[in-house]
Amino acid sequence: MRVLDDLSPGGARVLVRVDLNVPMRDGQVGDATRIERAVPTLSELAGKGARVIVLSHFGRPKGRVVPALSLAPLAGPLGAALGRRVAFASLATAPEAVANMTDGDVLLLENLRFDPGEEANGLDFAQALAALGDFYVNDAFSCAHRAHASTTGLAYLLPAAAGRALQAELAALQAALASPRRPVAALVGGAKVSSKLAVLGHLLDKADQLIIGGGMANTFLFAKGLAIGASLCETDLAQTAREIVAKADKVGCDIALPVDVVLARDLRAGTDSITVSVDQVPDGMMILDIGPASVSDLTRRLAGCRTLLWNGPLGAFEFPPFDRGTVQVAQAAAAQTRTGDLTSVAGGGDTVAALRHAGAADDFTYVSTAGGAFLEWLEGKVLPGIKALEI
Ligand code: 3PG
Repeated sequence: MRVLDDLSPGGARVLVRVDLNVPMRDGQVGDATRIERAVPTLSELAGKGARVIVLSHFGRPKGRVVPALSLAPLAGPLGAALGRRVAFASLATAPEAVANMTDGDVLLLENLRFDPGEEANGLDFAQALAALGDFYVNDAFSCAHRAHASTTGLAYLLPAAAGRALQAELAALQAALASPRRPVAALVGGAKVSSKLAVLGHLLDKADQLIIGGGMANTFLFAKGLAIGASLCETDLAQTAREIVAKADKVGCDIALPVDVVLARDLRAGTDSITVSVDQVPDGMMILDIGPASVSDLTRRLAGCRTLLWNGPLGAFEFPPFDRGTVQVAQAAAAQTRTGDLTSVAGGGDTVAALRHAGAADDFTYVSTAGGAFLEWLEGKVLPGIKALEI
């Protein structure tokens, strides 16, 4: 894979695919992490005198112009993060705007998904984009699972390279799964087993410990014959859960399930809760978090590990007090990472928000901002956006 060092960007037009699909609240950026991650590559290129054309999607407009999904409001925050003026152009006016750029300028193009050619990876659309640049740089790991014009098509039409954020992300993921320090613990949480079946299957072969938490742990407890009251559970996947446990046994992967749980009658912040052993769940109550004995068990297990891969919360962390299990285990992992004892890599969906809530994100070795791409990578899939960059 080529990287920025392999390009001579001075005076050249460089198309850079980043991920500006950031959460917005009332027209303001809710979480700027993805913008911040784009800064090193964009600054380096602009600093070297490139004419930097920033490409991204925003939301899912499905090939139509949806004004509420315009990228125009992101030009200001991107400029502030870069410490440079960022101009903005619609897709129709892009050729003229690019022709008027001078060295070191940064131009943000409108949401690429306003054109159906983006998601269809249409050759005409990819060629129209390619005509705007001399080089293509992909710095959006979080979009690498999409085979779209700006994530794969362009890589075949222009000399292509990985940006700094993509490079860092791939290095961190390699360190966590391809060539990790052992033993390796994989922590998989979240609501549903069904959305993580492929992940669990892939991780069984890679990890020494598989920690299962969140709503999906209920399905495993149910499959063991335990009463789970009114808890979220995919009863139709009980047999699948038993097969996963049997396979883990066979390959020598130790599965950790909660040993005690926090229960409530409704899912509400501050609602009354009780903690019971996992075999004492009464009818009508819901498992909403792991209990203190489970936290001790998991921190003891982590203390024996050198690598942790974390995907998904251990409980309903958005509703305190059901955040405690996630917070305490995340803080233990963060402390172990600070001493250099643990390489900790996290990503996917709610994971970043959960680790932020725990105040642990900054201490993790690497926190990916990717949702779907991180999950597909955890499933062992080849991501088209990465494959397209390979030479
Ligand atoms: C994400 O938010 O995970 C990426 O920006 C990809 O977005 P998508 O799922 O709409 O392709």
